[in-house]
Amino acid sequence: MKGLILSGGRGTRLRPITHTGPKQLVPVANKPVIQYAIEDLHEAGVTDIGVVLGNVGREAIQEFLGDGSQFGVDITYIVQGNPLGLAHAVGCAEEFVDGDDFVMYLGDNILNDGITELVDSFRDGDYAAGLALQHVDNPSQFGIATVDDDGDITSLVEKPDDPPSDLAIIGVYVFSPAIFDAVAAIEPSARGELEITDAIHLLLEEGGAIDSHVVQGWWKDTGKPEDILSANRLVLDDIDASRDGTIEDGAEVVGQVDMHETAVIESGAVVRGPTSLAADVTVESGTYVGPYTSVGEQSRLANVQISNSVVIGDSDITTDEAIVDSLLGRGTTIGSSAEMLPEGRRLVVGENSKLRL
Ligand code: TTP
Repeated sequence: MKGLILSGGRGTRLRPITHTGPKQLVPVANKPVIQYAIEDLHEAGVTDIGVVLGNVGREAIQEFLGDGSQFGVDITYIVQGNPLGLAHAVGCAEEFVDGDDFVMYLGDNILNDGITELVDSFRDGDYAAGLALQHVDNPSQFGIATVDDDGDITSLVEKPDDPPSDLAIIGVYVFSPAIFDAVAAIEPSARGELEITDAIHLLLEEGGAIDSHVVQGWWKDTGKPEDILSANRLVLDDIDASRDGTIEDGAEVVGQVDMHETAVIESGAVVRGPTSLAADVTVESGTYVGPYTSVGEQSRLANVQISNSVVIGDSDITTDEAIVDSLLGRGTTIGSSAEMLPEGRRLVVGENSKLRL
């Protein structure tokens, strides 16, 4: 069994963050999203992994993952270039897969419970494919499957007005090599992409058995800023308080605080967990870091009150305004204009930024 992580795509919904880097490297609880996929594959015994690269941040992903050895896996890079659809990405990997079965993992997805049960269930039968499913409240917004009593898929429908079930297809699939003929046979959809659901449909029409596994733990697609914050909350809810860094006398630290050994919480600062502070983060006196906040490496927080937010890194946040529910890109500086005239916000805002003042 091989692994295939899809890390191409445009990432339009995560602009401006994706103007300068791939969304798969956005940190959730200070760990890049793609690392969760690598760890899940590794845990399921899948160590021969292909990583599909698009045009956004190709080098950055290669730089982060390298040959995979630091994660205990072996990585082969496959260049897709323009994002012509998930099925197109699979088609690009045919040579790498080389007749094996494989797990396809969307590189911007995070699953709480891993993928071992999905992979084991596929291995236990003679299936053309296996799909991870999850019960959702809003089935009209997903690809929806119906299953029989044995858990075999009987139908698939994309964003139905009248959903036949509440079982959504989520971002992890297992395929036999039969998928490659199906990918070669389908036509682009109305949005111009080769859709993986069309290829799976074809497998089903040709009589292939398709297994399903209903994922019980949470699942997050981190395609939008609010999804990153929500994934960050879910992951932080389970972290252990390492508190490896320096906590000065007079600092108030409460709850689960995961702290790199080089992070510093100065006297007079307040940090409430669950929170993650990466390497070389300094929380200065008079600052409040509230629950569900991850602060990326080499960032300085001073005076600010920040909560439910992700600071990606290399940032200098010294405003005395409160910051909530925010995703701050690498290299962000937010200072104070309180003593300047005329009064008001002074902004240098990148293309496609979203601010609420
Ligand atoms: P999506 O989130 O569906 O697409 P996208 O990354 O282009 O984002 P947006 O809709 O905001 O523009 O992609 C899911 C995952 O699959 C993601 O990790 C990117 C990857 N992908 C590819 O590798 N190749 C592709 O052709 C597409 C469409 C996505």
